[in-house]
Formats: sequence, C-alpha cells, structure tokens
Amino acid sequence: MTRNPLERYFEAHQGRQIHKWVHYFDIYHRHFEKYRGRPVTVVEFGVQYGGSSQMWREYFGPDAKIYGVDIDPRCKAWEEPGFQVFIGDQGDPEFLNRIADEIGPVDVVIEDGGHFPLHQITTFEVFYPRIRRGGVFLIEDLHTSYWKDYGGKRNQQGTFMEYAKALTDQLNAWHSEEPDFKPDRFTRTTASMHFYDSIVVFEKDKVVKPHHEVRGTAEWTDTAEPFSHSLASRGLSLRKRARRKAGAVRRRLRRS
Ligand SMILES: C[S@@+](CC[C@H](N)C(=O)[O-])C[C@H]1O[C@@H](n2cnc3c(N)ncnc32)[C@H](O)[C@@H]1O
Repeated sequence: MTRNPLERYFEAHQGRQIHKWVHYFDIYHRHFEKYRGRPVTVVEFGVQYGGSSQMWREYFGPDAKIYGVDIDPRCKAWEEPGFQVFIGDQGDPEFLNRIADEIGPVDVVIEDGGHFPLHQITTFEVFYPRIRRGGVFLIEDLHTSYWKDYGGKRNQQGTFMEYAKALTDQLNAWHSEEPDFKPDRFTRTTASMHFYDSIVVFEKDKVVKPHHEVRGTAEWTDTAEPFSHSLASRGLSLRKRARRKAGAVRRRLRRS
C-alpha cells in the first residue's frame, strides 16, 4: 500500500530520474511533513538528473525556495523559477561558505551528494550552523560508511557514521564529569539525532540544561521487606564471580 505523498509521487513519476532507496520515503515524511505548504528554504546536495528536485517542489509546495548543489555543471540546466543550482565541490569549505552566505538561513538540508566522508563532514560543518531553530539536517546513503570503495568499514575512524556516533556523546555532554568534555554549540542547538538504516537526521532547537524534578511521596507499603541496593549489587558481583569460576572449572574439565 502506498503510505505517503512522496512514495506516491515516486511511483507515478515518469520525468527526470530520481534514485532513492525506498525506505527513505517514510523517513523523509516523518521529518519534513511539518514544512509542507510553508515558505521554507530547502537545500539538496546531489542534483544529478534533477528528478528529486522536482519531487521536493511537489512535496514542499510553491512557496518553498529550493536550492541544489552539484559538482556536475550539466545540473545547471535544471534551474527554474524557485529552484537555483550551485555548481561546485562540496568538499571545499570556501565554496560552501560562499553559497551558504548567498542562500541565508536554511530550514532543511538533504545531503545526497558525493558520499565520501570529506563531502559529508565538510557539508555538515558548514551548513549545520546555518540551519534555523526547528530545522532538519538529513544525510542519506550512509551505507557508504561501510563500503570499501568509500574508505568505509565498521568502526572506521573518519567515516560520517563514526563522526555521528561521537556527536551522540556531545548531545549528552550536559552530564559529563570530565573537564575536557563540555556542552558546546552542538549540544545547545540539537534537540535530537535519529539513526535509521543509511540515514541520520539531526533536528535543531534551542536546548537548555536538562533538569529533573520529583512529584509525589517516597514511601513503601508497611508490609514491604527492607531492601538494600548496596547488598543487592554485592550479591550481583558475587554471582558474577561464581559464574566465572564455574566457567573456568568447565573449561578445565573439557581439557582433561
Ligand atoms: C546520488 S546522486 C544524486 C541523486 C539525486 N539526489 C536523486 O535523488 O536522484 C549524487 C550527485 O552528487 C554529485 N556529486 C558528486 N561529488 C560531488 C561533490 N564533490 N560536490 C558536489 N556534488 C557532488 C554527483 O555529480 C551526482 O549528481
């Protein structure tokens, strides 16, 4: 069954090519729906045949300003009123800063360009600070963080996935007890990070230092047995030690 307007558009589409993994449509709709019909600024990295920019126009509506960025000068041909294409290398921070200044504050970034860590991380670092409060940075095709051809594999330092994993710590930096690990601009402006297959979404908002509160009475029933958390954790470590010993005995028996 066709579940959302993007998927419906894609299935009926016959014009310029759009290339998408099909599970992306639900993720887009989940994070972008609130912007439909509004005068938002959307930037897509990776224009190629221009089909996805047509899809974004239909989805976000006539009031959206849509920008495309691609290294291939042929993409300039897809420009039309309300859709401007910048030609350049998204691995070049100077180029990115120049176009970011021209575009101004952004609501949505869809990163589907070069897919190498240099492209992905440079684009994130230049454009993330330019996204408005409430805005979204969505980066796709992160399976390339696991592909040899893109310098990827699991836990490979330098890939966007490792970069994003480190940012999950930064999101929680409020709770740090280490002097060199403190909340920074990312911590204060990132409401949430969402991990999906091949996609990470960052949602921006003003974040204030988290605090907790208590309501209600801290009482047990009259019949409750006394309970000690320290005794309970001591019991747990004794059980672990016993299990380790039993394992060693079993291994010795197997060898004899
Ligand atoms: C996967 S395609 C984009 C597909 C399109 N968004 C769609 O959904 O149909 C990737 C595009 O990124 C562009 N690209 C590759 N390296 C780039 C770079 N360094 N800077 C900017 N664009 C780049 C390619 O020219 C190509 O058009």
